[in-house]
Amino acid sequence: MADKFAIVTGASSGIGYELAQVCAREGYDLLVAADTADIDQAAEAFRTHGVAVDALFVDLATLNGVDRLFAAAQGRKVDALLANAGHGLGKGFLEQNFDDVRHVIDTNVTGTIYLVQKVARDMRSRGGGRILITGSIAGFIPGTYQAVYNGTKAFIDSFSFALRNELKDSGVTVTCLMPGATDTAFFERADMLDTKVGTDEKDDPADVARVGYDAMMRGEGDVVAGWKNKLQTAVASVTPSAVLAEQHRKMAEPGTAKTRTAGRE
Ligand SMILES: NC(=O)c1ccc[n+]([C@@H]2O[C@H](COP(=O)([O-])OP(=O)(O)OC[C@H]3O[C@@H](n4cnc5c(N)ncnc54)[C@H](OP(=O)(O)O)[C@@H]3O)[C@@H](O)[C@H]2O)c1
Repeated sequence: MADKFAIVTGASSGIGYELAQVCAREGYDLLVAADTADIDQAAEAFRTHGVAVDALFVDLATLNGVDRLFAAAQGRKVDALLANAGHGLGKGFLEQNFDDVRHVIDTNVTGTIYLVQKVARDMRSRGGGRILITGSIAGFIPGTYQAVYNGTKAFIDSFSFALRNELKDSGVTVTCLMPGATDTAFFERADMLDTKVGTDEKDDPADVARVGYDAMMRGEGDVVAGWKNKLQTAVASVTPSAVLAEQHRKMAEPGTAKTRTAGRE
């Protein structure tokens, strides 16, 4: 058994998979969770680094699912929580199925902060621990044709800084990882492959994960991965919301995908 233990959610693919890989390489035993049985295959890959890995297939949109994950830690001291599970939902809000809308909110917000509360209480009692929450630069931008998702990330970006401040004298650090568009299954799952943002070039999830892990270990408040994304957030902070919403339409409106645009030119 390693002397360090981390919980990573959404570790079956994308950024979460890469975060778990970094943790495993850094010598953490792992408890990893995701919403499909793919998590078992991912766990095999993490074990190749010589650490102990438990994997749980669970819906973290439910309080019961989060309770099951927390119980699976069996009271072991959590040195790092990487609360990363989340998903998007494209198309116009009025066209979306409300059960799908609810699942985005319940995964990205409710399940995430419920897990953070449970783990952070234990961390505060022992006077130490590191928390990394995956927010997004989307939290700075009203997400036309991804309205609910961007709203959940605005919540997470804000929540993360508030909790960090509440815990500032506790030994527990809270860091918000804010990726830009990253090359994962995210856009396919959100049904956004017919959009510009869904088909544009994206950041490498392994690079994003490394930046996030390092920021967490340094105890930083937030980290935006990549200079283009840093620029985008700086510009967003001084741009009127209506302008940002119109810009987002150009990236996320169905039919804006590169191939279709190229065909029209
Ligand atoms: N990709 C981007 O451009 C981007 C940009 C900014 C922020 N983010 C954020 O980064 C995080 C990771 O996304 P990703 O891009 O790596 O996408 P991804 O490859 O689709 O990975 C999402 C992960 O979250 C898990 N997950 C989703 N809903 C869940 C639920 N209800 N219960 C348990 N696990 C659940 C998925 O599990 P299964 O595979 O088992 O379904 C998967 O492991 C998300 O919070 C996302 O919002 C992504």
